[in-house]
Amino acid sequence: MLTPDFHQLQSIDAEALAAEARAGLMAVRARASPKFFYDALGSRLFDAITELDEYYPTRTEAAIFAAHGDAIAAAARQRLGPGFGLVDLGAGDGAKAARLFDLLRPSRYVAVDISIDFLRLSLQRLQRAHPSITMVGVGLDFSAHLQLPDSLCPGRSLVFYPGSSIGNFDPDDALRLLRQARALARGGALLIGVDLVKDSATLEAAYDDALGVTAAFNLNLLRHLNRLIGSDFAARQWQHLARYDHGLSRIEMHLLARQALTVSWPGGSRHFDAGERLHTENSYKWTLPGFDALLRDAGWQQLQHWTDDAQAFAVVLAS
Ligand code: TRP
Repeated sequence: MLTPDFHQLQSIDAEALAAEARAGLMAVRARASPKFFYDALGSRLFDAITELDEYYPTRTEAAIFAAHGDAIAAAARQRLGPGFGLVDLGAGDGAKAARLFDLLRPSRYVAVDISIDFLRLSLQRLQRAHPSITMVGVGLDFSAHLQLPDSLCPGRSLVFYPGSSIGNFDPDDALRLLRQARALARGGALLIGVDLVKDSATLEAAYDDALGVTAAFNLNLLRHLNRLIGSDFAARQWQHLARYDHGLSRIEMHLLARQALTVSWPGGSRHFDAGERLHTENSYKWTLPGFDALLRDAGWQQLQHWTDDAQAFAVVLAS
């Protein structure tokens, strides 16, 4: 039986992360990178978000794969030919990709996430269930640059990027990432999930649920910053805000100061007026024609889509 191979390509540089966090707080419009959401509690809160009634994307994407998985896999296999690799971007526990193994039958599974620590146990478990697939875990923050050494990812690949994570990039960065994905596929294909434009009430509810889980997820970033840079954010002084901006086709998440306050950390401080915001994330929503144009711009062709009846979410295959 094969055993998974692990490679951490970048070391996680806590000092660089702290410097990035401080620079964001000092910006005229204060901001914090969405990567600061994901400490241990943040990852659990995100898992909880995916189970909320209001958060339709995860469930809708899963329903599209349940209904059309055979057709999607047949189309992908036909484009790739035998003996291809499945490259899973932001693999996490690998569960989404694993549901496609029997349909896609890749010879190689390359799971990419920020840290191999997130991949180790799940990849070992997946390897036991699928003993003949070569499995590789890669620790890489691909948000700034997506590239893998040939040795880890030889030959044609199907690049798998579900969950509408592409929506968390500005259109320029999304274009760059999709171009890099094309180079990575080496003549293979892309299978990507994207959340679609819809009424703002549905969108805003998905990012501001009745139970307050998304609010907790957003506020938890402040605890993470406190640990990272030694700041004294008090979560009670902040309020979660999620707004859909029609012009920019994006949900913006902010934390809003409930009162005038000053946040301090060793070497610096920042005053916030009452109502002043700390911007934490964008989630762009695409129309199908708009997303097709983006994919074509990035050099992808032969676009095929699968959506739910309400056209809330789309899965797109391209080569
Ligand atoms: N990319 C998904 C989205 O934008 C998941 C996600 C990222 C998310 N950050 C989030 C969901 C914050 C809710 C809140 O929908």
